[in-house]
Amino acid sequence: MHKTENWGTRIGVILAVAGSAVGLGNFLRFPGQVAQNGGGAFMIPYFVALLLLGIPLCWAEWTMGRYAGTRGFHSAPGIFSVICKTNKARYLGTIALLMPLVIYMYYVVIEAWCLGYAICYLDGSLMPENNPGSYEDFFAHFTGQGSDGALLEPDTRWFLGLLLLIFGMNFVFIYRGVTKGIESFCRIAMPIMAVLAVLVLIRVMTLGTPDPTKPDQNLINGLGAMWNPDFAVLLTPKTWLAASSQVFFSLSVGFGIIINYASYLRRKDDVALSGLTASSMNEFFEVCLGGLITIPAAFMFLGASATEQGTFGLGFVAMPSVFAMMPMGQLFGFLWFFMLFIAAITSSLSMLQPVIAFFEEGLGMKRHASATILGMISMMGAGFVIYFSKEMKALDTMDFWVGTVAIFILAMVQAILYGWVLGIEKGERELHEGAHIRIPFAVQLVLKFVTPLFLMGVFIMFCVYNASDYIASLQENPVAKMSVMLILMLFGFLLLLVHIAGIRWEKEGRFDQVFSEEEISVQDNR
Ligand code: ALA
Repeated sequence: MHKTENWGTRIGVILAVAGSAVGLGNFLRFPGQVAQNGGGAFMIPYFVALLLLGIPLCWAEWTMGRYAGTRGFHSAPGIFSVICKTNKARYLGTIALLMPLVIYMYYVVIEAWCLGYAICYLDGSLMPENNPGSYEDFFAHFTGQGSDGALLEPDTRWFLGLLLLIFGMNFVFIYRGVTKGIESFCRIAMPIMAVLAVLVLIRVMTLGTPDPTKPDQNLINGLGAMWNPDFAVLLTPKTWLAASSQVFFSLSVGFGIIINYASYLRRKDDVALSGLTASSMNEFFEVCLGGLITIPAAFMFLGASATEQGTFGLGFVAMPSVFAMMPMGQLFGFLWFFMLFIAAITSSLSMLQPVIAFFEEGLGMKRHASATILGMISMMGAGFVIYFSKEMKALDTMDFWVGTVAIFILAMVQAILYGWVLGIEKGERELHEGAHIRIPFAVQLVLKFVTPLFLMGVFIMFCVYNASDYIASLQENPVAKMSVMLILMLFGFLLLLVHIAGIRWEKEGRFDQVFSEEEISVQDNR
């Protein structure tokens, strides 16, 4: 009999899923998206996407994950095979392994920037008296944007040591397993992150008018810069696209993560309320904390133009400029970047577990072998991102093709598996097994009809509006081309492993047992 892991407590699994969801997307990506897409008006497509895509798909992932997990499968290839009742469906699961793995490769690098910046606040090197140049130059140098290989230079080499340390931390937690590693860490990290974020929020909310010679740059106008609605943007497809991508990225839906985490639940563990609670927690961090810190702070100190910077500009250029002028800026700079680091590590951990689960159940590896091999593969990918640092081309390309395009594809596969293969009647029964709340049947209809159509519409818009620049860059830029080749090679490698896993499962008769149990339960229900 296959040995299986389970979550220790209900709050533990909720915090682990929320830990995966709450990350850099909440504190950096979200405010940038809101400010650039109509302020408060952005929240209309955002909430539509949350209600029609994010939360329904989240419930679908929790339900399918637990369903297959209680039948002995924790990796996407196994889970999809159980849902489809054919071993061939495992190939579809390959994308749910590729996504977290590739996202981990660049996410861990950004995680190291966060810890690196926190250290630079501790030793004061990010304060204006020690850093006479601009924060833009500091960030460009720190991340090696000037040329490929710049991070191998002696003065930035310490960053590589930091990255290794963070790699080590991630793998220690993963090695310890679902309960002793991920759950225990998230139970401590999530409250710490909340406290740090609230402290920074209180600091920003009590700044009033930091520069009396510029009375317009006050808190109220800062909040207005973030939230004043421009309803005209609702007519542009790009706003709807941005809102849907944000919801997916932020909730970690369509990443192959929640389906894996939910597979460690027991048959009678609630998924309905737990899924909703984890999503609500993510929304609290995103809207109530992320939405009130960076843009108002950047506006109050630097004026309206500073709020137009993208994700990294806001976090790593505008915020240090703000801390340089803010009373107790060194302390708050440290708290902010350390908080971002904690938010990032609870997310990056969750990107490793789906692949570890596959290596173990698909290829029969022991934990030390699976962690070593995954460590080597992911280090090679992170090394690629670190070496090809010029203009962040490798990071940007991977984020686009995997962190954005592939999310839509996996979300679509999962919506179809739930709505049309598992079926909404069975899905609803499964969702309510052990549930602490009742979800209206309308949600099932949304999952079957509205979610796939909405996803398809958004995906088509996405290809029309966003993909052309990236396709052009593939033709022009050799690093972009190599990054896509790396993704394709990894995909091919994982596909081969999934093929081998299926042969093993077939030989062991793993599915015969699962599918015949299904038959029995269908007959019993008749
Ligand atoms: N959901 C994670 C984030 O928002 C990946 O950063």
